[in-house]
Amino acid sequence: MKAEHFKHAEPSGQQEHKEAAGGLPSSGLRTNRAEPKDYYTFSDEEKEVEFKRHDMPTPWMNYLSNGTFHTMLSHAGGGVAFYKSPQIWRITRYRFFHLPMDRSGPYIYVQDAKTGGYWCPTSEPALDKPEEWKSAHGMGYTRFEAKRADIAARTVYFVGPYENSLIWNLTLSNQGSAAKELKVYAYAEFGMMEFMRELQWQCYNKHQVSVQYHPAETLVYRYGVENQPKPEETPLVYLASDTPLSGYDGDREEFIGCYRSESNPAAIENGGCTGSTLMGGDPCGALQFNLTLQPGESRTINVFLGTAADEQEVERAVAHSREAGFVESSFLALKENWASYLGAWESRLPDKDAERMINIWNPYQAHRNFLFSRNISFYATGTFRGVGYRDTSQDILAVVPFDTELAFDKLRLLLGQQYKDGHVNHYFFPNEGWEPVTSIHSDDHLWTALAAWDLLAETGDAAFLEAKLPYYDGSEGTVYEHLKAAIDFTASKLGPNGFPLMLRSDWNDQLFRVCREGRGESIWTAMQLGTVLLRMIDLAAAAGHPEHTAQYEAMYEAQRKRVNSIGWDGQWFRRAIMDDGRFLGSDEHDEAKIWLNAQTWATLSGMADEDKGLRAMDSVRDMLDTELGIKKIHPSITSFPDPADPLTNYNKGTGENGAVFCHANTWAIIAECMLGRGDLAYKYYRQLLPNVAMDKAGLWRYKAEPYVYASNLFGPESDKFGLANVSWLTGTAAWMYVAATQYILGVKPVMNGLSIDPCIPADWEGFTVKRRFRGCVYDITVTNVSKVCKGVKQITVDGERVEGNVLPPYPGRSSVKVEVIL
Ligand code: GLC
Repeated sequence: MKAEHFKHAEPSGQQEHKEAAGGLPSSGLRTNRAEPKDYYTFSDEEKEVEFKRHDMPTPWMNYLSNGTFHTMLSHAGGGVAFYKSPQIWRITRYRFFHLPMDRSGPYIYVQDAKTGGYWCPTSEPALDKPEEWKSAHGMGYTRFEAKRADIAARTVYFVGPYENSLIWNLTLSNQGSAAKELKVYAYAEFGMMEFMRELQWQCYNKHQVSVQYHPAETLVYRYGVENQPKPEETPLVYLASDTPLSGYDGDREEFIGCYRSESNPAAIENGGCTGSTLMGGDPCGALQFNLTLQPGESRTINVFLGTAADEQEVERAVAHSREAGFVESSFLALKENWASYLGAWESRLPDKDAERMINIWNPYQAHRNFLFSRNISFYATGTFRGVGYRDTSQDILAVVPFDTELAFDKLRLLLGQQYKDGHVNHYFFPNEGWEPVTSIHSDDHLWTALAAWDLLAETGDAAFLEAKLPYYDGSEGTVYEHLKAAIDFTASKLGPNGFPLMLRSDWNDQLFRVCREGRGESIWTAMQLGTVLLRMIDLAAAAGHPEHTAQYEAMYEAQRKRVNSIGWDGQWFRRAIMDDGRFLGSDEHDEAKIWLNAQTWATLSGMADEDKGLRAMDSVRDMLDTELGIKKIHPSITSFPDPADPLTNYNKGTGENGAVFCHANTWAIIAECMLGRGDLAYKYYRQLLPNVAMDKAGLWRYKAEPYVYASNLFGPESDKFGLANVSWLTGTAAWMYVAATQYILGVKPVMNGLSIDPCIPADWEGFTVKRRFRGCVYDITVTNVSKVCKGVKQITVDGERVEGNVLPPYPGRSSVKVEVIL
């Protein structure tokens, strides 16, 4: 379907969208209009996405990581490496926002020694391009295959589990009939490790870095800058190879030169590396290899860009990396780790776009969120945001099904940021050791209970609730006591109408302006609290505190009543009460009448009276849905509540102001599943599958990666409706995974087993899922005999009828065959 034909919901009898806002105007679209299929294809067997062109609308990223050493790498070879923290141990420079985009990166240059012509297997950044080229992102690696003038180059970049290094595995083959003399260069630009300090103090601090050449053919970069936060933990950086060197450079001015760029390095054009080291200046690492390839001959060169604690460690790591088989076994281990992780779930669905996302890319993306929080991406510079308490609490939800130990470690880390009174630090910096950001939000501390409940449902083992963990301000409590403290904190912070006070904001960061006097209340937080209280009732029972149940139930009931009375606007639920006592999200205003989250969570929390829950989600459909996802609010804000002090500075249709905020869309899918409206739920799900949205919007409008979710898409009130922003690191990843697997496919761990309750499009004939659960693989086939959206008629396990739709755990069994009839 052509994007020009977008219709979008018109709010009944209210302000109209401008016609121009919905279509795709020509402004900003002067570039190539080729179809998405000309740019990329999926290869699901290999769990890869393959790229046919280097000139994408934006860099399309991958994250290579072993949990300690990380590299973000684009489809065209641009990217940045860091050890643990991009704030303080950033190893290579990446120039955010600058033109040309996507520089610098771990580049390889292949030069014909006779003609002097040179090109890059990554296509970028050399000006001469390969005659044939493709690249691919896979699980933890990125591969480039290129050919020019009879020389074929295959490069795989990855971070293996055995050393903290980016491995560049390059194989060159001479496919021609004449011998070729080549000069091959590997190049990375080092920066000051502390990116913010570099911006501020580089003129002095640049004299405190050095690059030295070590006899074992290794360049070692030392970041010796004073006043750095953790000098004793700052590693040395090495660049080395398993192939003898013909030259090297450690000084960027010698290798690249001023008024040049990575496109035309001086050293390459002037005959080779100069042998520079550096005792102050702009550091780099460049290695040169001269080789002759006979016709039909292939050579492999491995390059290692890594970190190690000290000189001895560098020597050891480099020697280890040069051992025969090191690179192969590292890659094999990487592959096996991912196969085992993703092996927890495999589904076969009538919709291949959804199947690929659910089996491969969504859990992969969610895992990267879990690792990096919202720290560093093509959009986020990795200079300040550390671990966000609320963000990471949600990220855990999509790791629990795969690795409960990892999930529990993170839960522990989070709860260590909680104060005795139950509130938590908003952001914190476990690697950097900086002081946390201490603003208090109405929602942050409540999120963790969802993760704890999921962990309990997944494992069936309540012992972790008894684990003692410190509070941030001293003393300690069990996990359960921490969770209860969060509830007690909210109970102590209710506003004049009895809803939770907004405090700094709730989930929506933009709400601070309407509650800065401290009286504003969040109706949405009341719903979030309700959702959490239902979980707390289970957690209390599991932790041996049934005596708390009455308190939770009473709180729930009181909030439920308020939500359905004060919180109800007539056609939808209100969002908040502002400092001045007026409602936010009410038909009485011209702007921001309706807010998505208040409608979805009314159902998620089980709080909405039945007619109201449905009515509210109908309003979502009628007023907020577009063909490219559901807008967060409508109409967008320009002058509300006060033209001199509007609620947000976001342009209309962007960010929290009327964009399609993908994270919030996930809850609409869940709500529709809970209401049993599988066709609508699936419409909401499918329209935001990144490749589906890209097809609809057009590649040059959507721009971001078609294999991972973006945080938001510009909404119809923007002139760039459909432009995707802030891809990769977004709460969308975890919640889409939950929505798809637990609500649409309906395979959800609960306290007493695995619940099977799909809510699918009525025309689906069925689907299958293999899911690991408490040590047993449930091999589930769902058949939609009656062509319904929802309603389990019958379940058999290994041929035996089971009552209800919760399957018990099967200790000691390695697999069971489950047949489900809808
Ligand atoms: C961003 C933030 C998240 C917040 C959301 C809505 O995604 O990372 O913490 O909840 O915006 O404002």
